[in-house]
Amino acid sequence: MGRIETGIFGLDQLIEGGLNEKSTTVIVGSSGTGKTTFGVQFLMHGIENGEQGLFVSLEETPEQIMKEAEAIGIDLRKHYEKDLFFIHLKGKNFKKMVEEQLPQLVKARSDYDIRTRVVIDPITPVLWATEDKLEQRELIGRLFYTLRELGVVISTVEEHTKPGEAVGEDVLLPIYLADGALHLEYYPIGGAFNRTLKVIKMRGTHHGEGVYPYMFVRGMGVIVRASGTDIAVEPGQEYNEIFDKAIQTAETGQAPKPLLSRLKKMKESWDYDYSPEEALHIVFDSYKVK
Ligand SMILES: Nc1ncnc2c1ncn2[C@@H]1O[C@H](COP(=O)(O)OP(=O)(O)OP(=O)(O)O)[C@@H](O)[C@H]1O
Ligand SMILES: [Mg+2]
Repeated sequence: MGRIETGIFGLDQLIEGGLNEKSTTVIVGSSGTGKTTFGVQFLMHGIENGEQGLFVSLEETPEQIMKEAEAIGIDLRKHYEKDLFFIHLKGKNFKKMVEEQLPQLVKARSDYDIRTRVVIDPITPVLWATEDKLEQRELIGRLFYTLRELGVVISTVEEHTKPGEAVGEDVLLPIYLADGALHLEYYPIGGAFNRTLKVIKMRGTHHGEGVYPYMFVRGMGVIVRASGTDIAVEPGQEYNEIFDKAIQTAETGQAPKPLLSRLKKMKESWDYDYSPEEALHIVFDSYKVK
């Protein structure tokens, strides 16, 4: 079965090339770890390759989500209601939504031949809609089962524990019910790669077992460092030369258009003390540009 690239730089090589068709993966992390960014980047990767995206938001409005994506340099607006659709569920009756509305929507799209990626961000309020554990399990299970019919699903889960503490109880249920789970943690210790990713599980996949640092890069989104190399620290350096060389390589290597515009945006906004070389390598690998 073919793998579906996540579009999150560096991640696919940790999970045998990507996610399985019609699978559900949860992304667990506390506030500000980058859950929404992961989701947005995943949708954009599909859209750039002719797929459609469905963003099921439970807390933020589509406007807020598009604005935040803009801050990281991802332009969702130009796809809004063309190949990117939002369902905003704030304050709705989740039970009715999960049992009636979503299945209707999925059914209405069943004649479509266009692949769709789905993001649910965050799923936690659905869990809190009822205290009954069995009902929680049914709701989440139904939600995953229904949306999976559309294509590949990513769902974020809020975590309310501190780094290093055991995974909280309210995140265990979605992890059990999903096919895959990623754990994001934030260590406010300074430096570029100050957040880490761990693959908790990925059904049918030999996945990386390490703790992988990742960073935010404007124009790109999230870049995961899947290899174990050190980053060169050269404070005060100018990196224009490295970027220009990368852009040139991309041009001669017939890189896809989105990569070129992303590289330019990345060059303009790189304000780390670190050389961008490693991040660029990961991005080029993802695009399979030599
Ligand atoms: N270029 C950047 N450099 C450093 N940090 C950044 C950059 N862009 C975004 N961030 C940080 O990442 C956070 C955004 O992550 P995102 O909104 O995806 O997190 P989240 O896990 O969805 O958070 P929440 O739980 O609040 O929804 C911002 O709060 C900001 O601190
Ligand atoms: Mg978020």
